This record gives sequence, structure tokens and C-alpha cells, in this order.
Amino acid sequence: MAALGAAGPRPALGEVRAAERRLRGRVHRTPVLTCAGLDRRAGRRLLFKCELLQRTGSFKIRGALNAVSSLVERGQRPRALVTHSSGNHGQALACAARAEGIPAYVVVPRTAPQCKQAAIRAYGATVVPCEPSDKARAETAARVVQETGGVLVHPNQEPDVIAGQGTIALEVLEQAPEVNAVVVPVGGGGMIAGIAIAIKALRPDVKVFAAEPSNVDDCYQSKVRGVLTPNLDPRDTIADAVKTSIGPNTWPIIRDLVDDVLTVSEEEIKQATWLVWERMKLLIEPTAGVGLAAVLSEKFQAVPREVENVCIVLCGGNVDLRSLTWLTDLSGKTE
Ligand SMILES: Cc1ncc(COP(=O)(O)O)c(C=O)c1O
Repeated sequence: MAALGAAGPRPALGEVRAAERRLRGRVHRTPVLTCAGLDRRAGRRLLFKCELLQRTGSFKIRGALNAVSSLVERGQRPRALVTHSSGNHGQALACAARAEGIPAYVVVPRTAPQCKQAAIRAYGATVVPCEPSDKARAETAARVVQETGGVLVHPNQEPDVIAGQGTIALEVLEQAPEVNAVVVPVGGGGMIAGIAIAIKALRPDVKVFAAEPSNVDDCYQSKVRGVLTPNLDPRDTIADAVKTSIGPNTWPIIRDLVDDVLTVSEEEIKQATWLVWERMKLLIEPTAGVGLAAVLSEKFQAVPREVENVCIVLCGGNVDLRSLTWLTDLSGKTE
């Protein structure tokens, strides 16, 4: 069977609206929360879209459920669903596949957090380990597709996945119409592409910023050079879910619709994550700290003051509590 999303059409607002209808009653409408202390630090009003409270612990269920439901809607019922994922899309696809009674296989880098691997198994999917590189992920998934006769649901390049992630923006515009900017952590770019499509169609005045660890700054490099520039040899980052690079379907959308890309250091990500835990009492995973880190960074000071109400997507909460050994390094740096 063919791979879903290998080089698909570019989704538009209509596809995001269709995803919204498909997902109605099947995903949570997550809250938008505020925090006066963090507003003071940022010098702006911050609106936190709490996707860590989403089903499966991240926004990924939106895209996975939309992709699987639209496949079934089109009358296709594959023998298996296959994906590769650092963890969150794997959990989401496993959950969506189980809802349709279809077996799921998830190719996971050996280094992915144990809690994410355990959750994928708990949703009934088979975990297939691979080496931690984009190449190994894609090759292993292609082999599993061949062996199972299944369909690959790409975690971030599949158009139905991109459209599903765009439903975050539809909710934000309803929940916080005063929003002037949205800040979105970027890995493969599915989330920011979907959000940018919806925002720029409905409210072109709202800025869309990508936030990315400087250790894996392929989105930043691509924007600066004007050509897709994947990380061929990515460095490590505590924000494990955004280690992967943007791809051929998300790049043109990011090139055309994303206003700017802000990069942040590992230290800034750790401090922002700590702040959200301590001040908001929300157990985000470090990848979700990337957005706040960008807004608290010096670079964000250059964003005009009229951009007053800034929505930050707290994209996930699947933290491996056993891996939090870095906490002690931060003492004294977060007051
Ligand atoms: C929690 C979390 N945030 C952000 C991302 C990045 O999303 P995308 O690959 O669509 O850019 C991911 C992807 O796995 C994720 O799990």
C-alpha cells in the first residue's frame, strides 16, 4: 500500500475545518491559561494553550486521528498503520488505530524516553526500535510497511496530519480573539504549518513565530537561506520531540506563512520548563518549554510592543520523570 503523505497536496483552511468536524467530541478543547508572574517577566500578556492536557498527553492526537479517520472515511481500511516517531505521534497513532481496530507499528529511536515507549505499547501498538537518526527512522518504517502491507502515516509531512494540527489555531482564535502572535515549537513542522495555514487565512494580522533549539536549527537555517536545509547530523537537545527536521511538505508552508524563527539555547529551554512547572504547576515536557524560552529571550525584545497578547502552545506533557537529573544544575538560576 502507498505511503500516506509522501508528497501530498498543500492543505488549506477547508481541510483544517474538515479536521475540526472529524475531531469534534473526540479530542479535548484544551484550556488557554494565563500567569501574571510570567507576564511580568515577558513584559507582555501570555496565553498558554495547554495541549499537554490533550488526550495522549500532546497535540499529536489531532493529526493522527484526522489522518486515520479520513482514510477510513475514504473507504480504505489498511491491514496495518505504520509510523516513525520520537514518541508522541507514536502514542497518538496507536490510540487512533485502536479506535478503528487497526494494528499499529511504531518505529521509535532507541533513545526516545522510556515513558513514551511504554505508552505506545499500552495503547496496543508494536514498538520497532531503530537508530536515532531521520534516515534510520524512514528506512525502518519503509521496511515495516513492506513487511506488514500497511500504510505509513508520516508524523509531520502527511497533509491530513498537518490539517489536524491546524485545529489548535481555530480553538485559539475562538478562546483568545485578542491574540496578536502565536509561538509554536517546531520539529518536522506539522504543527506550525497547520497553525499558520489557519491563522493566516482567518487573521493575517496575527504573527506566527517558530521556536527551535539552536542545537537543531534546521528551520532557522532554511528560512535564512531560502532553501530547505535539514540537519544532517543533529546535535542532542533536551527538547527530544523537536530533534527531527522540517520536510518537503512543511517547508513551503513555513517559507510562505511563518513570520520568523527564534532559536534558544539548552539552558534557556531548561529555565523556561522549570518556570512553567513552578509558576503554573503544569507538568510540561521540555519540548513545550521551547516556546516560552523564545518569548523570554533577548531576541523577542525586538518584536514590536503592539504584539502584546502572545499565545504559546504548551505542546506536550509526556515527561520521563526518571530523566530529570538536569534539575540540580539549575538551582539558583530561576529566581
Ligand atoms: C510535544 C511536541 N511538541 C512539538 C513537536 C513538533 O511537532 P512537529 O514535528 O509537527 O513540528 C512534537 C513532535 O513530535 C511534539 O511531540
